[in-house]
Amino acid sequence: MPDSAVTAVSATALDTALAGHPAGLRRTFAIISHPDAGKTTLTEKLLLFGGAIHVAGAVKARGEARRARSDWMKIEQQRGISVTTSVMHFEYGGAVFNLLDTPGHEDFSEDTYRTLTAVDSAVMVIDAAKGIEARTRKLFEICRLRDVPIVTFINKMDRESKDPIELLDEIASTLALDITPMSWPVGSGQNFKGTYDLAHDRMLVFDASHRERIGEVMKCEGIDDPKLAAALPKDQYDKLAEEVELVRGGYPTFDLDSYRAGHLSPVFFGSAYNNFGVRELLDALAAWAPPPRPQPAEPRAIAPTEGKVTGFVFKVQANMDPNHRDRIAFLRLCSGKFRRGMKLSQMGTGKTLSVNSPILFFAREREIVDEAWPGDIIGIPNHGVLRVGDTLTEGETVKITGIPNFAPEILRRVRLEDPMKSKQLRRALDDLAEEGVTQVFRRVIGGDNIVGVVGELQLDVLKTRVEAEYGVHIDLEPAPFETARWISAESKADLEAFMSANRGGMSEDRDGSPVFLARNAWELGYIAEKSPKIKFSDIRERA
Ligand code: G4P
Repeated sequence: MPDSAVTAVSATALDTALAGHPAGLRRTFAIISHPDAGKTTLTEKLLLFGGAIHVAGAVKARGEARRARSDWMKIEQQRGISVTTSVMHFEYGGAVFNLLDTPGHEDFSEDTYRTLTAVDSAVMVIDAAKGIEARTRKLFEICRLRDVPIVTFINKMDRESKDPIELLDEIASTLALDITPMSWPVGSGQNFKGTYDLAHDRMLVFDASHRERIGEVMKCEGIDDPKLAAALPKDQYDKLAEEVELVRGGYPTFDLDSYRAGHLSPVFFGSAYNNFGVRELLDALAAWAPPPRPQPAEPRAIAPTEGKVTGFVFKVQANMDPNHRDRIAFLRLCSGKFRRGMKLSQMGTGKTLSVNSPILFFAREREIVDEAWPGDIIGIPNHGVLRVGDTLTEGETVKITGIPNFAPEILRRVRLEDPMKSKQLRRALDDLAEEGVTQVFRRVIGGDNIVGVVGELQLDVLKTRVEAEYGVHIDLEPAPFETARWISAESKADLEAFMSANRGGMSEDRDGSPVFLARNAWELGYIAEKSPKIKFSDIRERA
């Protein structure tokens, strides 16, 4: 939840505080959307503008081809690809962008949620023919928890779309968000002629015969400019003139503070596939998207201008190189100037590590960097020391808050084919739990490994990776449990009494925290009612 001290910082105060500071140039963001709305296509076009890639098609397979199970596994097995695309660093318009990828498949939503804790803003891509879809809405709600500012891009205007006014009303009412159209579409599908830039009074002309070419700009003296009337079919011009009047009167004007507070979203219309409207979107991000905000932490929030380095790990990717059991922890820097070779302390364990090979990720390659600033994401190769949720500092004891673990919705018992391999299995499950692929719970009685996932696809990935990367063959059997809850109590004695009275359902997670496994929702409800001193939680932040 937002920290009041954090949300109280006004846009202007934040910009002033960061003026002249390299952190002030950082724009760290993610794209949220429902599958197929065009996130990958838009990512690719943003990178083209940022000069990070030079040919379309370089990011990864699009659409169904990518999400198809076999393809996904293939991509995951070629570890390099998915990792180089999970964070992308590029520059454009004087700003330094860090674009964080979020997995498209809903089974990986946990990973997505955690990634969203590491961004300062988001772009919401909406398919113009479909409007707000389930997953967009869910991701939007996650952003709202932290008041993450959102720019909306209504995509695929080159196809038949919903009526733009209806679309805007749908966004505003479904998401309870103020919106300000920044551009206005002229037609859609076969009749798409371009967009009218409401802020600058100019027409961005769409030419379907030159798909990759950025639209020509026609400067106008307002909507009544005869040039505009001459360039458009009469019915389309009349409609545009009428709608522009309506839109200008009917929606609030763009307000930076309101956008930065997450209350208002500027809306752009375009077509990612045709590279249309993408530059305007990027310009808007460079101009308005927030630089790093103060980061909620205990016992105090961390300001990006502070001299000492702090950061937190929001993602860990293991076995990127199968020959070395290495893994990369993705650290979001929150303050200070990071320098290669620095020693950072890991909160909670008291360990110190020297970061000698910090990696910065570009679309196609990665480079060892000598320095990085708040907002940047660096990859830290390590041997399993760093975990999701970890805070790293130069020594001060602070803990960055708000990086959750979610209770799994599917539980399975792991059966080992070769009992001699139990040690390897334990290691594999711990590694993958650490990466956030699955969660693992060890039963207090019998020591069975129960794995928990949010979606079925994660089970396939788990099985394949345990076999491919650790040489251990497993079966995933139905578990006698359906629900997992982290438990806590004010008094240790109450907690222990509960655990000994319910030993059959007790387990420990990877960190040794107690987790109660219930046979079904009814049993959970029954036991929770009987145990008023115990708190049952379906989200856990790493302590
Ligand atoms: P996602 O990451 O959000 O899942 O979407 P992705 O970019 O993969 O796009 C989904 C499909 O929508 C792709 O088609 C893509 O080409 C298409 N698309 C994206 N933007 C636009 C646009 O502005 N206009 C039109 N007409 N289509 C767009 P596909 O058939 O699945 O893949 P492909 O054969 O085009 O590669």
